[in-house]
Amino acid sequence: MKFNIQKQIRKNCRDFEPYRAGKPIETIKRELGLKKVIKLASNENPLGPCRAAIAAIQKAAADAYYYPDSNSWALKQALAKFYLVDPSSVVLGAGSDEIIELIAKLFFNPGDNIVVSRHAFIRYEMAGKLMGCAVKSVPMKEGYTHDLVAMAQVVTARTKAIFIANPNNPTGTYNTAQEFKKFMDIVEKRFGGNAPLVVVDEAYYEYARVNKDYPDTLRLLSLYPNLIILRTFSKIYGLAGLRVGYGFASPAIVDFIDRIRPPFNINVAAQVAAMASLADKNQVPHSITLTEQGKLSVCRELDRYGIPFIASAANFVLIDVSPRAGADVFKQLLKEGVIVRAMDEYHLHNHIRVTIGTAAQNTMFLTALKKVTA
Ligand SMILES: Cc1ncc(COP(=O)(O)O)c(C=O)c1O
Repeated sequence: MKFNIQKQIRKNCRDFEPYRAGKPIETIKRELGLKKVIKLASNENPLGPCRAAIAAIQKAAADAYYYPDSNSWALKQALAKFYLVDPSSVVLGAGSDEIIELIAKLFFNPGDNIVVSRHAFIRYEMAGKLMGCAVKSVPMKEGYTHDLVAMAQVVTARTKAIFIANPNNPTGTYNTAQEFKKFMDIVEKRFGGNAPLVVVDEAYYEYARVNKDYPDTLRLLSLYPNLIILRTFSKIYGLAGLRVGYGFASPAIVDFIDRIRPPFNINVAAQVAAMASLADKNQVPHSITLTEQGKLSVCRELDRYGIPFIASAANFVLIDVSPRAGADVFKQLLKEGVIVRAMDEYHLHNHIRVTIGTAAQNTMFLTALKKVTA
């Protein structure tokens, strides 16, 4: 019997390009026969989870035969208390990535469009395409920040959502509170009650908010019912492997997302580890200090080598390796046991992105980079 898969699958899935994830350490060891490999490819926290989170995961292991609480009640309460919001405004996903897809499934129809920034995190574009939306990609301003005014201007009656990664991955740049408020007001003025969703993705919120002009978007939630704020336990809390992200939105939006999400999307270990991480007093300040120091020393060395980079408000740096192709430098760094990311899918063919690691990892990266770009 023959099965014509091309005919059966949805049109939008036929040529769908998969997400290219950072390469795992074990894969590179195996493929290149290397003993020591470091991964600075996916903006993870080199400190790992806090001790309390590890203990909570170990304790929860014995309960793994039970399904998790499908509503993640305790975690929602903890987030609500932590951020001083009502629990009905909190939404959870298997990574903020899942919430991005749930938003797409809930709101987007074929023929709608979404607005993104040209070098923005690619999962928005993917979610839009999956649902058959047109993607309006708006050039960035000089210095690789989102041009929010230009993004507001391309909104049409068919626009369902505008996605703003703040800070943006992979550029590390951020939009200020003033820019963001101005943008929200333009959208509101143009469209009023028919305004599209504005999804602000703050995956690197804890790193970025050390900047005084970084927006406090939670305070805007009651003013703009079309606003969705996304955050995650994957980055500063070091729980990327457990997949737990969260968001804040109006109770009406949260209710609809909760209706369509998979019932047990936050697993037992993820729920308890996230709660333990929130309660931990050291994880965030320690990680910020490590990252700030690491970023300073990496950027100082890049300056010394004369290699241009973009100032970052997050835990990674986008480096311009022109005239070399980023993909080429990436491959050569792999041979040195350092996994970073090439940036071709972000239309940045002469760039690589490196996560700030421990001091030793940063040194290993810099030594390798110097060698392969010499
Ligand atoms: C801007 C941005 N948003 C969302 C995500 C996804 O994070 P999560 O692990 O919560 O799905 C990432 C991960 O790299 C990111 O950089």
